Amino acid sequence: MEPISKSVVRKDHEPKMSGRSLYVGDYGNEGVLTGKFLRAKAARARILSVKVPELPPGYFYIDRRDVPGVNKVHIVMDDTPVFAEDITEYIGEPIAMVAGPDPKKVDELLAAIQVDWEELEPVLDIRKSDTVFFDYEYGKGNLEEAFAQADKVYEEEFSTGYQDQTYLETQAMMAEPEENGRMFVHGSLQCAYYVHTALMQALGCGPDEVHVLQDVTGGGFGGKEDFPSILGCQVAVAARKAGAPVRCVFDRREDLEFTPKRHPSLCTYRAAVKDGCVTALDIEVLFNAGAYTTLSAVVLQRGVICASGVYNIPNLHVHGKAMKTNTVPSGAYRGFGAPQTFFAVEMLMDHIAKDLGEDSLDFKERHLVKQGDPTSTSGVYHFPVPLPAMIDEVDAACDFRRKHREYALPQSGRFRRGIGMSMYFHGAGFTGSGERDIIKAVCRLLKRADGTVEILAANGEIGQGLRTTFPKIVANELGLPLDKVFYEHPDTARVPDSGPTVASRSLMIVGELLRRCAVRLKEEWRDGEEQVVEEHFREPDFMIPFYLDKFQGDAYPTYAWGVNAIEVEVDTYTGLTRILGAYGSFDVGTPMDEGIVLGQMEGGFLQGIGYASMESMSYDSRGRIRSNSFSDYLIPTAADVPNLKCMLHVEKYPDGPYGAKGAGELPLVGAPGAYVEAMEQALGGRVRLHHAPFTQEDAMKVIAKEGV
Ligand code: MTE
Ligand code: MOS
Repeated sequence: MEPISKSVVRKDHEPKMSGRSLYVGDYGNEGVLTGKFLRAKAARARILSVKVPELPPGYFYIDRRDVPGVNKVHIVMDDTPVFAEDITEYIGEPIAMVAGPDPKKVDELLAAIQVDWEELEPVLDIRKSDTVFFDYEYGKGNLEEAFAQADKVYEEEFSTGYQDQTYLETQAMMAEPEENGRMFVHGSLQCAYYVHTALMQALGCGPDEVHVLQDVTGGGFGGKEDFPSILGCQVAVAARKAGAPVRCVFDRREDLEFTPKRHPSLCTYRAAVKDGCVTALDIEVLFNAGAYTTLSAVVLQRGVICASGVYNIPNLHVHGKAMKTNTVPSGAYRGFGAPQTFFAVEMLMDHIAKDLGEDSLDFKERHLVKQGDPTSTSGVYHFPVPLPAMIDEVDAACDFRRKHREYALPQSGRFRRGIGMSMYFHGAGFTGSGERDIIKAVCRLLKRADGTVEILAANGEIGQGLRTTFPKIVANELGLPLDKVFYEHPDTARVPDSGPTVASRSLMIVGELLRRCAVRLKEEWRDGEEQVVEEHFREPDFMIPFYLDKFQGDAYPTYAWGVNAIEVEVDTYTGLTRILGAYGSFDVGTPMDEGIVLGQMEGGFLQGIGYASMESMSYDSRGRIRSNSFSDYLIPTAADVPNLKCMLHVEKYPDGPYGAKGAGELPLVGAPGAYVEAMEQALGGRVRLHHAPFTQEDAMKVIAKEGV
C-alpha cells in the first residue's frame, strides 16, 4: 500500500456525524417562500386553460410566461422546458409553481387551480416508439462472413428495469435574489457549473449575474447530475418573480415518481460461435429515455461501448437507440448505461457456455481481452488487464471454481445453491473526447500568506470522499499536514470550471490537475505571500483520438476493472433467496484512502445487488410510476447486507494521481450478471434467465413453471 492510501478521518466526518452540517432544507425559513408544483396528470396532454384562484398577498403563481430568457433547460440538448408549454409529455411534468410563506396554504392553492386539458395518445412501449432521440452504430471485422462460417448461432433478448438512486437527501434547490441584482442559486447538486450554464439561458443573463453553490449534499449517485439544472431554473424564475428567496425540497414520493432514474433496457444479442469461440456479436441496444433527451446521449454512448464486455470479439456490430416514451425522463445512475449491457453480455456468455457444455468461467477466460488488444471501438487497451489475477483472488476467497462445478450438478431437496461470476470494466472519465473538447477542466490552488492552501475546483463532495481525498493529494505533494489544506463547497463565483462530478472523473482527472498544481506551487513557494497556481487539462499523448460520428478510437484513456462472485441459496418452497456471500476484487489503481475506497466498493456493490435482486420499479398502463414509496420500492437495508468481501487489486495508472483511476461507479456494474447467473444455477440446469432485477416473485414463477 502507498503511504497516501492510509486512511484518515474524513473532513466531513464531524459535521455530518454531529448533525452540524446544514443541508439546503435546514436553512432558516424566515422570508423564504416554499415552492410546489402543479403537475401534468396524463402521460400526454394538451393544456387548454389554467384557472388560478385569486392569490393572497405574498403568494405567487409562476409558469412559462415568467421565464425571462429561453424556456428550455440546457442539459446536453435543450428540449426540456423550464415550465411546460401547451403540450405535456409525461405524468408529473411541471406546468407551474405556486410559492408562498406557508406550505399548507401553497398546497391549498395548488388544489384550487383548475386545469382543462385534452388527453393525447401517449407512447409507453419502447418497441412502439417512433421517436429515436439518439442512434449510434459502430462495428469492426466482417460480420456476415463470421455468421456464414459459424458452427452455431445464438439469439437472445435481455431486459433490465428502472433503478432509482434513493439518495438519503431528496432533490432540493433554493434561489435567492441578491441586493446587487445577482441571483444566487444553491442546493443539493453534483455539477455547479451545469446549473450555472442552464441558469444563464433561462434567466437570459450573463455569467456574472448568477452564481451557484453546492450545499452539503446527501448523495447523488448520478441523480443530481441533470435534475438540479431543471429545478434550479424553476426556483430562480420563481425567486425573480417574487423578489424573495424560493426553496423547493421534494418529498420522497415526488422524488421517486418525477425525477430521473436508470434507463430500462432491452438488448438483443446475436452470436456466432466457431470452434468453441464467439467470433461475432451483432447487438441491438434499446434504452427507454422517457419524455425528454436529458442525459440519454451520454448514457447510451457508454452502454453501447460496453456491449461486448471484457471479451475480444473480432467481428462486431453494435446499434444502440435511445427511444422517447411519455414517461419521466431517465437519467444517470452510477454506471451510466454500462450495468445494462454488461448484464446482457455476461448472461449471454454464460448461456453459450452452458449450451456448449463448458464451465462458463473457463469459457469467459478464453475470450478475455489483454493489454494491447483492440477495444470494441478499435482503440487499444494500453495498460495491463489484471482480470486473470483478480479472478484468482475471488476464487481464493470463495472457492468459486469448485462450487461452480458442484452446484451445476443436479440438486434435490428444499434448498438449492448457485454461484455466479461477472467480470467487467469501467472506463474512467468522460466518454470519447469529452474531457478534451467539452469539459476542458481548469483548477487552482490558492496559497494564503499564513501558509494554508485552499483548493479551488468545482467538484462536489457527494459522499464519495472528495473533500478528503483532494486535500490529501495536495497536502502529500506539498509536504503539509492535512489540516493546512482546505476544500470548501464550490461556489461558481469563486472557483474555476473543473467540470462536473460525474463519470468517476473528479478524483482521476481533477485530482491529477491538483497534484500538478501542487508540484508547481512547491517549486514557486514563497513564505508569507499569497500565491495562486492554475492547471489545465491535457489529454495523455498515448490516446487514439475518438470520433463520436464513427465511434472509433480510445473511448477512455484507461479502465478500472472488477470481478464479482455471488453465492445464493434458494428456498424452493417460497422462492426466498439468501445471499450466502458476495465477493469482489476491484482495481481502481492506487486508493487515495483505503477506508474511503473500500466504502465506495461496499456501497456500490450493495446497490448493484439491490439492482440485481429486489429493486423493482415500473409504470402502469397510464404511464405512472407505481413504486413511489420505500414500502413499494424495496432497496437493500442493513438487514439485507450479505457477507460482503471486497478486495483491492492495484494496477496503477501513470496519468492518475499516484496511480489512481476512477473508482466511484465501478462497484455497481457487475452485480446483476453474477447474481442472476447464481440464481440460474440454483434453479437448475435447464433454466435460462434474461432479466434483472430477478426478484423472489420471479424465482417463485420459475419454480412453479419448471417444477424445480
Ligand atoms: N458515493 C457516494 N457515497 N455518494 C454518491 O452520490 N456517486 C457515485 C460515486 N460514488 C456517489 C458515490 C457516482 S454516480 C459517481 S460518478 C462517482 O461517485 C463520482 O466520483 P468522482 O468524485 O471521482 O467523480
Ligand atoms: Mo455518476 S452516474 O456519472 O454521476
